[in-house]
Amino acid sequence: PLSAMEQQYPIRQELGSLHGIPLFKCFIEGWPQVKAFQARPDDLLISTYPKSGTTWLSEIMDMIYHDGDVEKCRRDAIYNRVPFLEMKVPKAPSGVEQLENTPSPRLVKTHLPVQLLPTSFWEKDCKIIYMARNPKDVVVSYYYFHHMAKLHPDPGTKAEFLENFMAGKVAYGSWYDHVRGWWEKKQEKMLYLFYEDMKKDPRREVQKILHFLGKELAEGTVERILHHTSFQEMKKNPAANYETMLPTAMDHSISPFLRKGICGDWKNHFTVAQNERFDQHYQEHMAGSDLHFQME
Ligand code: PPS
Repeated sequence: PLSAMEQQYPIRQELGSLHGIPLFKCFIEGWPQVKAFQARPDDLLISTYPKSGTTWLSEIMDMIYHDGDVEKCRRDAIYNRVPFLEMKVPKAPSGVEQLENTPSPRLVKTHLPVQLLPTSFWEKDCKIIYMARNPKDVVVSYYYFHHMAKLHPDPGTKAEFLENFMAGKVAYGSWYDHVRGWWEKKQEKMLYLFYEDMKKDPRREVQKILHFLGKELAEGTVERILHHTSFQEMKKNPAANYETMLPTAMDHSISPFLRKGICGDWKNHFTVAQNERFDQHYQEHMAGSDLHFQME
């Protein structure tokens, strides 16, 4: 029999709209609390469009915050160690409630587009790390995630999902608006990273993060962080791979949360025609921006 919490879990509902951004209706219900969220000056915000390496960056940050202590980073699931700001589902503590009970210095996860970030983060001048991933791999990852994470509406066929993604008709809206919006807000207290760079040279990216934090770690500690946050290690780590979520919410037998973790998987999914159309659409929507992506 399903527990009360499982029975209450919203499955495959249509998205609502939050200030024009498509979003889960249950998250929209919690919006007043998110809008009024009180950031603390030493909060660090991890901001991403979904499926862009949020969990990877979160695990790296928790390891850095705990000086590479692997055991400390197994203390709880990643979604509790780095609470998800705008998350709200029935019968579970909301992201805001979790954060209120988290001691400083806190790591905060959000997928909100820049214009919806609670103003308190700007007022308190919090450090922000944004991570972006190329849209072709994002859409493929998001498609598989829709199948396994049942809070999302039914994704339809791959072709249908691709259309919806390009039109911004998915949770969190347009990928283009998201990556460009955050890029334009880039300032001293924000570090803008790319999934593809992290794949190519994780050591250099971790050094960038350390520099941004004004923190130094021994070479051996950095080594341990890189090992512990590799795809293979995270995939088998129950504190990082989301396996502890209720099966009603995420079904890893359909598609694991840590699915492939590579650059260029889109080549296994896009048809030649879809790729040409996507490239055209990408050119149009990125025109005039100095933000560039490596597609593989
Ligand atoms: S979410 O639900 O939006 O928070 O998802 P997010 O964590 O942003 O993205 C999930 C994708 O990131 C991949 N991932 C990794 N790649 C490389 N190395 C590591 N350590 C790693 N951890 C997570 C994960 O596999 C998802 O991408 P795909 O392409 O689906 O495999």
